[in-house]
Amino acid sequence: MEKQTAVVQAFDLGRDGGHIKKAARILADGGLVAFPTETVYGIGANALNPEAVRGIFEAKGRPQDNPLIVHVTTLGEMEPLVAEFPDSARRLADAFWPGPLTIILPKTGAVPEVTSGGLDTVAVRMPSHPVARAIIRQSGVPVAAPSANRSGGPSPTVAQHCIFDLSGRVDMILDGGPCEVGVESTVLSLTGRVPRILRPGAVTLAALQALLGPVEVDPAVTHKMDEGQAAASPGMKYRHYAPKAGMVLVHGSDEAFYRLVEEKSGSGVWFLVFDEDVKAIGGNVLSYGSANSSRSQAGRIFSALREIDGTGAEMVYARAPSMEGVGLAVYNRMLRAAAFHEQYL
Ligand code: TXA
Ligand code: MG
Repeated sequence: MEKQTAVVQAFDLGRDGGHIKKAARILADGGLVAFPTETVYGIGANALNPEAVRGIFEAKGRPQDNPLIVHVTTLGEMEPLVAEFPDSARRLADAFWPGPLTIILPKTGAVPEVTSGGLDTVAVRMPSHPVARAIIRQSGVPVAAPSANRSGGPSPTVAQHCIFDLSGRVDMILDGGPCEVGVESTVLSLTGRVPRILRPGAVTLAALQALLGPVEVDPAVTHKMDEGQAAASPGMKYRHYAPKAGMVLVHGSDEAFYRLVEEKSGSGVWFLVFDEDVKAIGGNVLSYGSANSSRSQAGRIFSALREIDGTGAEMVYARAPSMEGVGLAVYNRMLRAAAFHEQYL
């Protein structure tokens, strides 16, 4: 059923015209609100209300076995949701919350099946964005929120992306401007012997290792999983973020890439490159941040992937980012957008 979607501004919490309060009321009443976080925009519902959570899956067209992250603003709000809160979780919370880190822990019966995708674990995160925090706190409930895109598409980093994807599908879209980080939170599982990154994000492997000692990176972060292989994180097994055009992720020097550009240029062929390359290439070119700044790439990549769709491109050659620090998150998203097609020059 088509919903009436209110699009409202929430840049300034002091003068939001009551929109935050309305959004919180919608959540408490079982409705759906798209809202900004420091990573990407989320589509929120009361995590404890199975009917409301089902609405998220419907609005996104999301497969039922892909669990949601539950967002809270205090450790007290999280307590009823998790069966264990090990010392490692406490240290992570001290160091990185509120912020772009999601922790997977054994869940309690309070978390509905539909929220956790039928798993016996729950993903919890404490966002730092003031709008996200305000609506969660005022709603009085933990808020299940996946990224606010149609399933399979790039995550939204500005309200315009949410409007494009979710108009008529949610009750309210809160516009809080561009998201600071630009890629989704780091997902870290604490359910095994060694903490394991299921999805890289702005809280980096090095930062986690510095705090916890040994930390593993799930093989699915950088490699295609075999058909039928069980995914530690169900979201990892789906084709994701891809533009309509075919895409190849290209590794190599500036010179080698520029030779490839000469060779491949033609109608329907586009190049997704670093800001510094744009002048040298000209023509059908889009950029996703500075070659020297993984942070700027994280901030731009999802917008750039959406822009490709507007060009009518049929084939995209994208320069592979550095995999250091936040670069691993950028690489992980681009690899999926390219459906794991890579070329080494
Ligand atoms: O930054 C973010 O995390 C954003 C904002 C809105 O908070 N949310 C987000 O949610 O990216 P979503 O649903 O798009 O991605 C959640 C990922 C999926 O890959 C999902 O499979 C995984 O986390 N996940 C959720 N619960 C899990 C669980 N219990 N065990 C393993 N993976 C889980
Ligand atoms: Mg998502």
